[in-house]
Amino acid sequence: MTRRALPGTSVCRLLADARATEAFGEELAIRLAPGDVVALFGELGAGKTTLARGILRGLGHQGEVGSPTFPIVQTYDPPGIRLPVWHVDLYRIEDPAELAELGLAEARADAALLIEWPERMRPLWPDALRLTLAPADDGRALTAQVPVAWGARWPPR
Ligand SMILES: Nc1ncnc2c1ncn2[C@@H]1O[C@H](COP(=O)(O)OP(=O)(O)O)[C@@H](O)[C@H]1O
Ligand SMILES: [Mg+2]
Repeated sequence: MTRRALPGTSVCRLLADARATEAFGEELAIRLAPGDVVALFGELGAGKTTLARGILRGLGHQGEVGSPTFPIVQTYDPPGIRLPVWHVDLYRIEDPAELAELGLAEARADAALLIEWPERMRPLWPDALRLTLAPADDGRALTAQVPVAWGARWPPR
């Protein structure tokens, strides 16, 4: 269904159920490296945390994956996982100063970032992989905006 996309173009695929969302995250995890940012767009209940859970599972994390709404940042570190990951939910962020305090830019030095509600971050890094989930039939439509940094790694399968 998904064809190889030129960097910057949008591609779409249908995720029929929550398991498919998680499986897509697991595929993506194979390609994930420190410094990567995966921006997860979509309304409440769209499946952002489900996708993040798939990525974390794909990286080897075996425990629970909660929604990091509180606290805003949930960190995962080796050896339980292949690389350090910050799972971030910016829903409650209102003030740019609060955002700066999180230290996300610094975290990119050695961690990958999975960011829910990335629209709270202005500007968002141009090299972030932008994924949008939206209701479609009984499942979700996934749209990707693929930056140059991800071109050779896309689609994940
Ligand atoms: N592709 C899908 N099709 C149907 N339901 C899904 C899909 N992906 C996730 N869900 C379900 O949507 C609900 C909300 O998911 P969640 O990941 O918590 O959303 P968000 O983090 O965007 O608020 C969960 O019950 C989850 O199982
Ligand atoms: Mg969520």
